[in-house]
Amino acid sequence: MDIKATESLSKLLPRLETYCDDLKNVDWHEVKPRIEQEFKSLFNYLYNLYGDHYDFFYYLEEVLKTALDAASKRPADLKELDKKRSNNPHWYKSHKHIGAVGYADLFADDIPSLESRIPYLKDLNVTYFHLMPFFDCPDGENDGGYAVSDYRTVRKDLGSMNDLISFAKKLREEGISLCADFVFNHTSDEHQWAEKAKKGDPRFQKFYYMFDDRTMPDQYDATLREIFPDVRRGNFSWVEEAKKWVWTTFHNYQWDLNYQNPDLFNHILGEMLFMANAGVEIFRLDAIAFTGKELGTTSENRPKAHLLVRALNALTNIAAPSVVFKSEAIVHPDFVNSYIAEEECELSYNPLLMALMWEALATREVKLLRHSMKKRFAIHKATAWVNYVRSHDDIGWTFSDEDAAELGINGYDHRMFLNRFYTGKFDGSFAKGEPFQFNPDTGDMRVCGMAAALTGLEKGLETDDEKEISLSIKRMTLMYAVSIFIGGIPLIYLGDELASLNDYSYKQDPAKKGDSRWVHRVPLDDSAMARRKETGSVEKRMFSNISTLIDIRVNNHIFEAAATHFHDTGNPHLFAFTRENPEQKALFIGNFSEHKISLKSDFIRDIFGSGHTLKDLWSGNDLQVHHHVPIDPYQIFVLSL
Ligand code: GLC
Ligand code: GLC
Repeated sequence: MDIKATESLSKLLPRLETYCDDLKNVDWHEVKPRIEQEFKSLFNYLYNLYGDHYDFFYYLEEVLKTALDAASKRPADLKELDKKRSNNPHWYKSHKHIGAVGYADLFADDIPSLESRIPYLKDLNVTYFHLMPFFDCPDGENDGGYAVSDYRTVRKDLGSMNDLISFAKKLREEGISLCADFVFNHTSDEHQWAEKAKKGDPRFQKFYYMFDDRTMPDQYDATLREIFPDVRRGNFSWVEEAKKWVWTTFHNYQWDLNYQNPDLFNHILGEMLFMANAGVEIFRLDAIAFTGKELGTTSENRPKAHLLVRALNALTNIAAPSVVFKSEAIVHPDFVNSYIAEEECELSYNPLLMALMWEALATREVKLLRHSMKKRFAIHKATAWVNYVRSHDDIGWTFSDEDAAELGINGYDHRMFLNRFYTGKFDGSFAKGEPFQFNPDTGDMRVCGMAAALTGLEKGLETDDEKEISLSIKRMTLMYAVSIFIGGIPLIYLGDELASLNDYSYKQDPAKKGDSRWVHRVPLDDSAMARRKETGSVEKRMFSNISTLIDIRVNNHIFEAAATHFHDTGNPHLFAFTRENPEQKALFIGNFSEHKISLKSDFIRDIFGSGHTLKDLWSGNDLQVHHHVPIDPYQIFVLSL
């Protein structure tokens, strides 16, 4: 393979140089070393994906030309950024990075008005802003924008591409990187590729998986999971206009793209690089697990999904080198980790931490959380987790059944319990969540709700019960604290910092009422933001907790690139980890229960040695380590020497 790659490169370079001569604004001496650097791997990935196509070498050249085209259109300030990042390629590892995610029309009114929210983001030290889907999509149902009709046009009511470009630039000037979704497993059925496919254009029909009859769909369906069983059973939809079945993993209007076709690969690359040149620095690779499809398998997490992303990564390294990828694989933990690599996705959501924090909150026990983190938290040091408490999606109980079994927990039963607990069907539960996608065949279900509703604030406010209100704020603070200190980039789901509650109005909207995820996609109004300054308001209580936690993180070097170690405190309710580098150590302890605990101080002494006065960075108090340390309900400690 290496010989083939070397030979191909020597044949291609002169042709690419000639091609480059005709392009404006691109310096061959700048891009040539990047091509040489990436070529061997790129060739390998593409050869494994498309080597059996008679026109493989044609496409090899085409994709490189697509990359050169994009390089030539890259704006000067982004080229500057490329340069800056090449001196600091693991910039995302810094403890200074704080993420936030929101919708243009919920966090503000539209993209132009988002600019006025930048000071609010700065107030939270945000350096990474994920703007939820903003591309053109069908009216009515569109899966919250995850059905893209055009990767180069902004949804009309949100603004224009120029607005997006100028917003990205403003963010950059403020030290904030724009993250956007790259929804590349599927397009909407209104994308021009799909429109052409509907009209019978054979080239574009090959962009999707289209079949004349049920023969192939039945064979595929036999081994596929159903993601939205509420919506439709099976994974294929009938397209009357084309008289064909089309693969639709999610909704009928989301047509899965066929990456067995190099023509499509080249097109999607062009779309991605277009977005990179508009100022997207971090691509959230939506539904990444589904992109490699293979008959007779689950078609999830297949080797080809990895090759595909690696090829895209190598090509962005040529055309837009400062770009990084974030994996959105909400799958079994073994597979979540399989996407994380410097040459694949530098960043990844950490759905396991997210789900298990909620699990620990419900059970008041941290054993599954600790056990799973011990086994699975460590990833390559050039990569980073994106740790979150809530997102725009449901909570799925994606822990590993094997990990659970090692602790004597039956995964299936445990998930049933968690679903009951968070949908308020379990006696004594503090949570108010909504069920999502119940599958009558498997009993599987997921849960929706804002953190505030799931931790008891909604109930507390309804009954005007200060004790419940205060417990809820502590529960949220605890989970956010873990996500801020554990290592990686914390991601605030905007609204949580103001303790925003569920919004049930989606039930009145015909385009939304079938999807309970809308219960936790809530508008942030100016008055709620203003209340973060009113003494005693829940907004202020939550906002100041989150800001304090963030301040501790960004102002303490110990949280920079320090290893994370998990510890058993000997108490079932306490979650503990240290962050350690050669010079310093910090110990985090969090009580996942409403019980008062007395922790034997040996545990703390074993970590720091005896005779020291420790400082709790969270409370600001010194901690004299006597025989026992008293710990309050949901209390956290961030201890250092
Ligand atoms: C991702 C999104 C989710 C969407 C799905 C299909 O998982 O987070 O909201 O429904 O992809 O695009
Ligand atoms: C599935 C998908 C994930 C998506 C979720 C939406 O779990 O794996 O990508 O976010 O469905 O509910």
